[in-house]
Amino acid sequence: MRLRRNPNAIPRLQEHPLVINDPHQVKGSWKSLYAKPNQPLYVELGTGKGQFLAKASTQHPDHNWIGIEKIQEPLLQAAEKGTATENTNLRYIWMDIQKLRDVFAPGEVDRFYLHFSDPWPKARHYKRRLTYRDFLAIYAELLAPDGDLILKTDSLSLFDFSLEEFHEMGWTLQDLTRNLHESPWNKWNIQTEYEQKFAGRGMPIHFVRATPPKSTDSMEVEEVEKENE
Ligand SMILES: C[S@@+](CC[C@H](N)C(=O)[O-])C[C@H]1O[C@@H](n2cnc3c(N)ncnc32)[C@H](O)[C@@H]1O
Repeated sequence: MRLRRNPNAIPRLQEHPLVINDPHQVKGSWKSLYAKPNQPLYVELGTGKGQFLAKASTQHPDHNWIGIEKIQEPLLQAAEKGTATENTNLRYIWMDIQKLRDVFAPGEVDRFYLHFSDPWPKARHYKRRLTYRDFLAIYAELLAPDGDLILKTDSLSLFDFSLEEFHEMGWTLQDLTRNLHESPWNKWNIQTEYEQKFAGRGMPIHFVRATPPKSTDSMEVEEVEKENE
């Protein structure tokens, strides 16, 4: 993402009504921040400029939404789009995804979205990819029992890497297409800024919805492994 630095971005984020400045304090009680606390909590990881969240929170008022972004300038743009919607089911956090466990309790999130995450194409950088197994382990811990994760990307290499990591970590692939815009799932799709850019160049969008192993699944795997020892 090409960035124009904005010296006012940090103070504006700090006083923005939709940006949660002390996310650690809300760990375990995120839903209580919203006008309708009993709704599922959906979290977009790497929100960028926030087009998806502004539209998703409008089209799905029956869900509560959070966008997480580590760079202040795009997050400020996202939060301003959020304000323009006047939706009460939308919040943002300025944070690195590495710290997810500090701000969400186990089982607190109903869905994670990874939209056009940085592909980190160099082989030696594979651990930085947001679908690397260590990240999948964190998402699995924080997801509710019926929770899931949606990944969309233009990057074939990131997609194939992610499918391998899902497999290694015992996730189940529920829905999958290598051309989202020509698929039946497209009717529910809300495009992100990057998606519009890549699709505009004729690139197919890869999509998968996956669910983590139930904790009993991993116990069963351990038991089978012990029996085989
Ligand atoms: C390629 S952009 C995609 C933005 C948006 N999701 C879209 O599809 O238009 C990836 C975004 O993820 C953010 N990001 C990457 N790694 C992150 C991390 N560890 N924590 C928080 N945000 C991250 C980047 O700053 C960037 O804004």
